[in-house]
Amino acid sequence: MDDFLKRIECYKVTYQPLDPDNYDKDLSFIKVINVGRRFLVNRVQDYIQSKIVYHLMNIHVHSHSIYLCRHGESNHNVEGRIGGDSELSPQGKQFAHALRDFIEEHQLWDLKVWTSQLRRTIQTAEELGVPYEQWKILNEIDAGVCEEMSYEMIENTFPEEFALRDQDKDHYGYQGGESYQDLVQRLETVVMELERQGNVLVVCHQAVMRCLLAYFLDKSAEDLPYMKCPLHTVLKLTSVAYGCKVELFYLSVETVNTHRDRPLDETLRDSALVPRRNSYTPLSSHDQVKRPRLYSAGKPPWLPLAPTPSALMPDGKAKLPQIGSRCLSPCVKESTLTAPRKLVAVSASE
Ligand code: F6P
Repeated sequence: MDDFLKRIECYKVTYQPLDPDNYDKDLSFIKVINVGRRFLVNRVQDYIQSKIVYHLMNIHVHSHSIYLCRHGESNHNVEGRIGGDSELSPQGKQFAHALRDFIEEHQLWDLKVWTSQLRRTIQTAEELGVPYEQWKILNEIDAGVCEEMSYEMIENTFPEEFALRDQDKDHYGYQGGESYQDLVQRLETVVMELERQGNVLVVCHQAVMRCLLAYFLDKSAEDLPYMKCPLHTVLKLTSVAYGCKVELFYLSVETVNTHRDRPLDETLRDSALVPRRNSYTPLSSHDQVKRPRLYSAGKPPWLPLAPTPSALMPDGKAKLPQIGSRCLSPCVKESTLTAPRKLVAVSASE
């Protein structure tokens, strides 16, 4: 709270409140009042902007934890086959018991449990002795024509497809099935619901768990399909200021390893295949640079955000501060230069 109040004081140095009815009425902006009690949405004009509104309306600041794990080991896991709808192996059943003990030990009485509609997650949740909800959209990535095959069988039967996936796993869509990008889109509702809820345990699948984790840990689309999500391990995600804390609990029930490492670059370079993207959805903008926070509570800003009155020349034009060869002007709208200390929000499309 102290940090937050100091931050507001810092903002006051440079910012003025938006004026939705007059001065700022033509801008696109979202005003969040009292951490989400009320929203003022002004001139939201396109898909991305409306998605931002949707997102802001769903996130909250209550402290809660999300528990992610995969189902117990399945018979297909033991045989090295992907997809399908097989049942739990004996080890998988042991994991389900261990998971029940875990919930008891951690006294997670108010926990909501979600599964997919595949037998291996349902059988895992059945052992927990608590109510659970089945979500079809939590089903594992659909491997289309490759369902129920081992990686080796896929490589022998569809060598080109296998190489294409290795080249660009994030975009590659199985014939008659899905890509990781499709999966990310499919999971959007789950992600939003996880943001809204209290403590939830999601019993899911390798690819699904990667997508959920990547969202909460802010991983790039390139790294997402190679994130390690071993069987019989629970990840606890707790939101903290500006991030997410991860705790890992291995429940000590032996299991097979279903992770396939990212192929070495040399193997991919030798391949003469032309990448095929049968689905393409940009997950994020190309500009993925994380900018440092300009203000840290209690300290003066390290760079002025906008021309201060003293920086204004007598003719009313701003003297733009130069840092090396970089000019700060692009963040400031032309109109703001003639209005001292009035910094307007730059709309999302800019
Ligand atoms: O092997 C288990 C599994 O959940 C398969 O059903 C699924 O196709 C696969 O993992 C996803 O992992 P990857 O994208 O690395 O093949």
